Amino acid sequence: MDNRPIGFFDSGLGGLTCIPNLFSELPQERVIYFGDTARTPYGSKAVSTIRHYATQIADFLASKDVKMMVIACNTITATCLDELRQRFPDIPIVGIIKPAAVKAASCCDEFSRIGVIATKVTIASDDYNRMIKEQNPQLKVFSKATPAFVPLIEEGIIDNDIMNLTIKYYLDDFIKENSIDTLVLGCTHYPIIRKNIQNIYPQLRIINPSYEIISRIKDILTEKDMLAAENDRENIFYASDLSENFVNMIQKVLETEKSDLILKFKNLDL
Ligand code: DGL
Repeated sequence: MDNRPIGFFDSGLGGLTCIPNLFSELPQERVIYFGDTARTPYGSKAVSTIRHYATQIADFLASKDVKMMVIACNTITATCLDELRQRFPDIPIVGIIKPAAVKAASCCDEFSRIGVIATKVTIASDDYNRMIKEQNPQLKVFSKATPAFVPLIEEGIIDNDIMNLTIKYYLDDFIKENSIDTLVLGCTHYPIIRKNIQNIYPQLRIINPSYEIISRIKDILTEKDMLAAENDRENIFYASDLSENFVNMIQKVLETEKSDLILKFKNLDL
């Protein structure tokens, strides 16, 4: 039993999409979340920059005595997972790509047509393609970078024509030309536009890594006897820029009021 919090982090607010899934599966767990809202998006940045930022965040979470780190960001997982595991050998570190790749492979067969959408850096890493095919080499995977989604989501441009047109701009030809039937949302921001995507393409099976990662977290905590028991600790949400957008989106994603949240500013360069 271990009542210490789990550290979650992302370039911004995307990783928040994991949190309601965690609380519904493991309600006794507590989190310390870090969103690097001052420097988001990471998805088109140089790998060396992303590594520098991710190391700063992981050092900060380690200083808060988290029992596990969850990289709730595909871009950081694709670029920094091995390095962070080497830096913190005593803290279990969970990346988001493998659990989603395993899920995609488990519900598809050689006739399926799997599309992966993600940031430029995640797509360039080829991690989804490789990990899905490691599960089943017969699977067909098609990848597409969709970099405009994150800035729109961070701006709160979601339930409107601008977002829907952007979805069609990226996905119409991609889905049609490759006959995609299963779509992996390879960026933790994208579950926020899941409904938009499903409304435009109702036939698609959508795989949500922000949900799939939770069973991996549960397995590791169970194996290591680190599940929390009754827990009266607080959940704390840090951001490097406590912007109005972040505050609005956190309330929307967690379906809660600002007064019920502990929000803290943390500038990692200080
Ligand atoms: N949520 C991050 C991911 O899963 C967003 C990337 C970004 O900051 O561009 O990749």
